[in-house]
Amino acid sequence: MRGKAFDDTRRTFVARVTAALGALAGAVAVVPGLGLLLAPLRKATIKGPGRPVRVASRADVPPGKPVRVTVVGQLQDAWLRLDRVTLGSCWLVRPGPSAPVRAFSTVCPHLGCGVDYDEGTRRFECPCHGSSFDLAGRCLSGPAPRGLDELEVTTDGDDLLVRPQRFRTGTAAKEPIG
Ligand code: FES
Repeated sequence: MRGKAFDDTRRTFVARVTAALGALAGAVAVVPGLGLLLAPLRKATIKGPGRPVRVASRADVPPGKPVRVTVVGQLQDAWLRLDRVTLGSCWLVRPGPSAPVRAFSTVCPHLGCGVDYDEGTRRFECPCHGSSFDLAGRCLSGPAPRGLDELEVTTDGDDLLVRPQRFRTGTAAKEPIG
């Protein structure tokens, strides 16, 4: 014959095992959800399209005259996908009538100011600390540690497509950062 103490011990044991199994089942259900919820903390959350976007047609870029264009595309911010977001801008340069169009970031590789084009000198000029660049993007003067960052250009018929990309500033090497 079992005593009351034995029954109490058994009841306590069963209650604890039930509670432990319940906690385990809860954790199994919650952990994947938490992982999904916290996923943006473990990686870069803002992503550009990563693929070329149309910026102009070839006829929009006269030979020898740089044209500044805005790069508009899709942006992924954590769980949110935004369409037609301004991702930046770039300079399009067609060196000659039959030459392919090249694209350069408008971000100065020194400290990130916006680079302008001066018709008079036919140079790209940075208004912040005076770096200047030729039409091939080479640094001619100033503190910029490298030339303008060239972006990948592809064509689709007459359309010009540029792959938006950013690079670390202040370094001699061109290091993509997104
Ligand atoms: S940011 Fe362009 S020269 Fe300094």
